Parts: sequence; C-alpha cells; structure tokens
Amino acid sequence: MYTVDDNGYYGKFGGAFIPEMMHKNIEFLKLKYLEIIEAPEFQVHFQSLLRDYVGRPSPLYFSQALSDLYGGKIYLKREDLNHTGSHKINNTIGQILLAKHLGKKRIIAETGAGQHGVATATVCARAGLECIVYMGATDVARQQPNVEKMKFLGAKVIPVTSGNKTLKDATNEAIRDWISNPESTHYIIGSVVGPHPYPDMVSKFQSVISEEIQKQLLEKTGKANPSKVIACVGGGSNAAGAFYHFMDEKEVELIAVEAAGKGVETGESAATTALGNLGVLHGAMTLLMQTEDGQIIEPYSISAGLDYPGIGPLHAHLFDSNRATFVNVTDEEALDAALQLTKIEGIIPALESSHALAALEKIEIGTDEVVVLNLSGRGDKDMETYLNYYKQKAQ
Ligand SMILES: Cc1ncc(COP(=O)(O)O)c(C=O)c1O
Repeated sequence: MYTVDDNGYYGKFGGAFIPEMMHKNIEFLKLKYLEIIEAPEFQVHFQSLLRDYVGRPSPLYFSQALSDLYGGKIYLKREDLNHTGSHKINNTIGQILLAKHLGKKRIIAETGAGQHGVATATVCARAGLECIVYMGATDVARQQPNVEKMKFLGAKVIPVTSGNKTLKDATNEAIRDWISNPESTHYIIGSVVGPHPYPDMVSKFQSVISEEIQKQLLEKTGKANPSKVIACVGGGSNAAGAFYHFMDEKEVELIAVEAAGKGVETGESAATTALGNLGVLHGAMTLLMQTEDGQIIEPYSISAGLDYPGIGPLHAHLFDSNRATFVNVTDEEALDAALQLTKIEGIIPALESSHALAALEKIEIGTDEVVVLNLSGRGDKDMETYLNYYKQKAQ
C-alpha cells in the first residue's frame, strides 16, 4: 500500500517529470534498477561493504536518560556512528555500485549539510571515479568542515549562487549538469526525491535501517515492532529508511519531523506539510512550498540538511493518507535538544537529528511504549553553530 507502483507513484505523488535530455538515463534506470540492485551478486557486494566499510549494523542504544525524561523506553538508532557520520553513506554505497555497473566515469551530487557530499566523495575515492558536488553558497559557508573533507577526498565542490543558495539550488545545478552530460555521468541523488526511480531506489538502500531495528528490537525486547519510530525529514531519506519495514505494520506510529525554522507562520520555515500543496519539484509530483502561481517559496532552516521546500513523494503520500504524523520543530527547539542530548548522553547530534530529538517534547509517550528515534548523524559539522548559539544565550 505504501510501495511505489509501476509508474513510480505513491498514491498521487511521484512519477518522472523530466526534460527530454534526461529521458534516456531515467528510462534506462526505470527499466533496469530493480534487476540490477536485487541481483544476488550486487546484494552480496552491497551487504559486505555495509558491514566492513560502513560499520553496520549501527547500534540500537537504549537511552535511560531520555526514557527518564520523556517516558517509555527510548532507543536511539545510531546512524551517527556510520563511516562519514550519517545515514547518507548507505545510499551512496548502493549508487556507486550501480554507477560502476552502468560503466559511468563521472559522478555528480548535490548536498545541503555536506553529509551526502562527503559520503559521495568517499565512495568515489574508493571507486576511483571523478566526483563533482554542487552545494549552495550559503551551505558552503555554514558547513565548512564538510567542504574541506570533500576537497581532501578529491571531489570538486562547486558553490551555487542562485536562489537562496541552499539545497534546492544545488539540486537544480546538478540536474542541469546531468542534462549536459547524460552519457558519461551518474547523478547520485542524496534523498528520496527526484524522478522515479530515485525515491524508490534510495528508500531501498536506506531500508537497512529499519531491517536492523526489527532484528535488534526482537533481540532486546522480544518484539520486533516498536510503538513509535521518529525521524527528521528534509527530503526524507533517513525517515524512509527508518519507516520502511514498518509502513504496513499498523500498530507502529510513524512520526516525521520537519524544520519549522523561525516558526511556521514567520515566512522563514521549511515545514512543507504545514505550508505546502501539490506541485512538481525536481522531477516529481509532491507537496511543496509554492506561491499561488507555482513559484517556489524559498525555504529556511538553521539546519542545512532540512532547508528544502518539498518532501519526497513517499512522505507526501504518508502524510496525505494519514499514515504518518508530521510535527515541526523550530531552530531554537532543535538547538536546545542538541545541548540536552550532549549533556545527558555524551552524544553530540547533527542539527538535522536534533529536530527529531526535539519532537520528544511534543508527543505523548505511554509508560509501556517502545520508541525508536533515528539519530541520523553526528554533530561535528555543526559545532560552530552550536557554540555561537550557546555563547549568545549566555550573554
Ligand atoms: C545528518 C542528517 N540527517 C538528516 C538529513 C536530511 O536528509 P534526509 O531527509 O534525506 O534524511 C541530512 C541531510 O543532509 C543529514 O545530514
């Protein structure tokens, strides 16, 4: 019910709205992606790299401290402990194997927080492929450590100065590049966005997260299903991975957390389900923030990875069908949640993941409930933002 149909739709969301020049690449992927990524040799290679290179399975950590504060039994799925520091590597490992299979020599990617850029530069270094990463100039400035890492790994980082110089604009440039270089190049999209088959393909590569949660919970609690799964949503790849094996399990509540920025009603927000409606963005029919005549409203969030005016079509469908509950969290609430986790657990979370943590304040958790929160990444890249915020607060 929540899987993609043959035409690439989740309910009324999805599809492939693409210019003619992308048609050959997308059509080929559409026909072949399942055959390629589900082949036993591909899966053996993919699984061995997830284990030995990424360091999977990532731990499922019981947080006594969060459980004491918010009730129930709260577990953190530690995607922050993956090689390169977030869930993004699960997808780039899969897509680089696909690119190799297709004989591509050149890889392009977009990035917001830089985590997908670093994960792409990493797998390109390993595979010996040229890597070009498009990144909004605003994000280049606010995520410097990741920019340096990408360059050190051999990638070329191209700052994008159109729009409000963030993730949407970087994605536009990457699509333009692909249109100009359709033969040589594979585009590693970093989230469950873009034309079919990307949302499904990226969800499948990320689904290892919920596959592991089920096994780990069964071992730890005797039951594979939690009461709630919580994840932040930019485009929605970590949430898609964390929800994947629970989507048809009705007793599991799926909680998606969007960035409210300075507040949903302030005009500086990225809370798509609160502010958006049906439209086409980056090749897919989905929910997006737009004016009455269809111009994109520039999104805002302090978190570079959540600063996007849309959500992937799977999430639009989960919202539209009331399967998932969407909540939103402001910059300030996320920053406070980051400090809280740091102080009570000794774990510095990524700003994106801190939005999921702040949602704990906004939901009811019963004493017997088991809650899994996907800690999508670590906060090394956000230290400057954190330090500035707490310096300001102390004044
Ligand atoms: C740590 C982390 N979490 C979450 C996200 C949001 O992306 P998605 O919604 O695709 O998981 C990002 C994006 O850069 C990220 O770096």
